[in-house]
Amino acid sequence: MTRFLGLKPDSLLVLASGILGLTASSLKRVIDFGAGAVTTKSFNLEVRKGHKAPSIIPFKNGVLNAVGLSNPGVQEMALEIEKFKKRCDAPLFASVFGRTIEEYGEVIQQLIDRVQPDLIEINVSCPNVRSEFGTPFGDSLDDTARVTEIAKKYAGKIPVSVKLGPHGPGIGRLARVCEDNGADAITAINTVGPGMLIDINVMKPVLSNKTGGVSGPAILPIAVKSVYEVFEHVSIPIIGTGGVTGTEDAIQMILAGATLIGIGTAVYYEGIEVFAKINRGITEYLQKHGRTSIEEIRGKAHE
Ligand SMILES: Cc1cc2nc3c(=O)[nH]c(=O)nc-3n(C[C@H](O)[C@H](O)[C@H](O)COP(=O)(O)O)c2cc1C
Repeated sequence: MTRFLGLKPDSLLVLASGILGLTASSLKRVIDFGAGAVTTKSFNLEVRKGHKAPSIIPFKNGVLNAVGLSNPGVQEMALEIEKFKKRCDAPLFASVFGRTIEEYGEVIQQLIDRVQPDLIEINVSCPNVRSEFGTPFGDSLDDTARVTEIAKKYAGKIPVSVKLGPHGPGIGRLARVCEDNGADAITAINTVGPGMLIDINVMKPVLSNKTGGVSGPAILPIAVKSVYEVFEHVSIPIIGTGGVTGTEDAIQMILAGATLIGIGTAVYYEGIEVFAKINRGITEYLQKHGRTSIEEIRGKAHE
C-alpha cells in the first residue's frame, strides 16, 4: 500500500489525465486492472469539442496528440465522478482547466458543489491549445502562482496537485512557486512540445491541428529529469508522469523522487494490462534488491 496525502491507494500507479478518463465505467475498469488511482480527462465549465480528427497519431516512439481538451463540461463530469465514487473506493483525481485564471476557481466551485474528488489536478500546461488559448499559464511563474492560489482557495480541504510541463522558466522554479502558494503536490509532466510530423505522401502535417503534444517513450528522459529537478526544489509529493511503459521506467521515476507514477500513453502501447505488469515488476525489483518498501528507494538517485 502507498501513502499519498492521507490517501492509501493499493498501487502507486495512477491513470494519467486524458486516457480512458471520461466515464465512470472506463475509470473503474482501470482500477480493476491494477491502477491505484485514476485521473479524469481535463474538463472546464462548458462542453468543448476540441480539434478535428486526426487528433491522435501514434509514431515509432510515442504519440502526437492535439485532442484540444475536448470534454463534456463540469456538470456531466461531476455525474461520472459521482457514479465512480458509488462503485469504487479507489482515489479519483479530477483534472480541471480554465480559459482564464478566474475560471479555474469557477470550475472547482461548480465541481465540489456536486461531488468531492480525492484530489484536484490543475492543468496549466497543455501544449496543444496555444492557437486558441495562447501561451499556457504554466509557462509563467506569475500566472502559475495565481492559478495555484485561486485553486487552493476554492478547493477548500481537497488537496490540489498542479500539473506542470518542462517548458517555460524551469520546472523546478515553477514547482517551488506552486508549493509557496499552497499546492499539495506536483504532477510532472504534461505532453511535450508541441511537435509535428509530416505525411510524406500527402506532404502535409499529419494532425489537423498541424502540431500536438508529444507523449510516450520519446519523452521518458525529459520526464525523469523533470521529476528529479522538482524533487530538488520542493518537499511536496510528486506524481511522476511521462513515457512510463514498463517497470524499469517506473523505477527510474521513483529513484528520481516520484511518490506516485502516472501512466497514459502506455495504455495504447501495452493495453490496460500495463498496470498489473508494472505492479508485479516493482515487487520483483524490490525483492531482487533486498528492499522491503518503496520508501527505501524513493529519491535515491539524489544521494
Ligand atoms: C491523447 C492524450 C490526451 C491527453 N489529455 C490530457 C488532458 O486532458 N489533461 C492533461 O492534463 N493531460 C493530458 N494528456 C497528457 C497525459 O496526461 C500525460 O501527462 C502525458 O501524456 C505524458 O504521459 P504518458 O507519456 O504516460 O502519456 C493527454 C495525453 C494524451 C496522449
